[in-house]
Amino acid sequence: MAILGELAAVLLLPFFLAFLILFGEITKKQERPKPKLPPGPRGLPVIGNLHLLGKHPHQTLYQLSKQYGPIMQLQLGRVPAVVISSAQMAEQVLKTHDLLFCSRPDMATGKRLSYNFSDVVLSPYNAAWRELRKITMLNLLNPKMVEDPSFATMEYAMVELVKNPRVMSKAQEETLRLHPMVPLLISRETMDHVKINEYDVFPKRRVYVNAWAVARDPDFWDQPDEFIPERFVGSNIDFRGHNFEFLPFGAGRRICPGLSFGIMTVELALANLLYAFNWELPNNMKKEEINMEETSGITVHLKTNLQLQATRHVPNVGVE
Ligand code: HEM
Repeated sequence: MAILGELAAVLLLPFFLAFLILFGEITKKQERPKPKLPPGPRGLPVIGNLHLLGKHPHQTLYQLSKQYGPIMQLQLGRVPAVVISSAQMAEQVLKTHDLLFCSRPDMATGKRLSYNFSDVVLSPYNAAWRELRKITMLNLLNPKMVEDPSFATMEYAMVELVKNPRVMSKAQEETLRLHPMVPLLISRETMDHVKINEYDVFPKRRVYVNAWAVARDPDFWDQPDEFIPERFVGSNIDFRGHNFEFLPFGAGRRICPGLSFGIMTVELALANLLYAFNWELPNNMKKEEINMEETSGITVHLKTNLQLQATRHVPNVGVE
């Protein structure tokens, strides 16, 4: 009898274990909250939301964000993407959860362009990127080494800055705000699951921070579409990645390492142009006739060449 009882126990044990596991799984599933995805427009089969992007994705995405909010999820063909359009959300992505958002997606064109991701810009986040970035910063883009050899020319250019430094730098900042050269920053990829406010963002999501939209965030900017350099007078907002409403160079671990170099180059060229010449529209052209259309691509600039009439007003400056 005892033997029979033991035999029954041995035979039933696997069923009992299977029941426990199944029961555990069912209750676990019931306990696990359903993920809450960021809102976004409904997609079409196969292409998802690709058809919505148009020629100027940063502008279209800005309009969509007014409808769906500052964090949206879109389906770009096979790629699920998350788009960030406010300063508060940008801070979460580029500061609070910077590490989880700082990889780059594995895109075929990028792979070819960057010799299998062996450059700083498109490399995923890994030890090789960290080493390369350190070397780039120390040896190539260290502000002490970018003195551009052309210091003499810069000296002339600085005359204007010395005479009028406040106006010059404010105009420059306002230009970077209204026309960020890389409006959607360079796409990022999440390395793990992360929660942004109440929304779940899963690993391997393509992430676009819309710097163009953020710079028009009405919570931070008055008359955001107007060119008003004076808005920077007395303000300590700058473009170095600490103010998330103004991100022309990005922020966080992937911030542009060429920031100082870029700013110095722009400053030098602009100071020379303004110091040496008066600028006017040609042939009685009206300012409303200037074609402000942008090119499309990762970086944007004016589609048609700007034509201006320059009259030299300072002889013998170093702009030959
Ligand atoms: C006004 C000029 C420039 C602007 C507006 C600009 C803007 C940007 C932006 C928005 C990013 C993406 C940052 C992100 O993902 O958060 C970036 C990345 C980068 N920029 Fe610039 N940039 C400028 C000049 C330069 C210059 C002069 C260099 C080098 C000589 C440079 C080298 C890089 C590199 C290597 C990256 C990739 C960094 C990484 O992924 O770790 N940039 N830049």
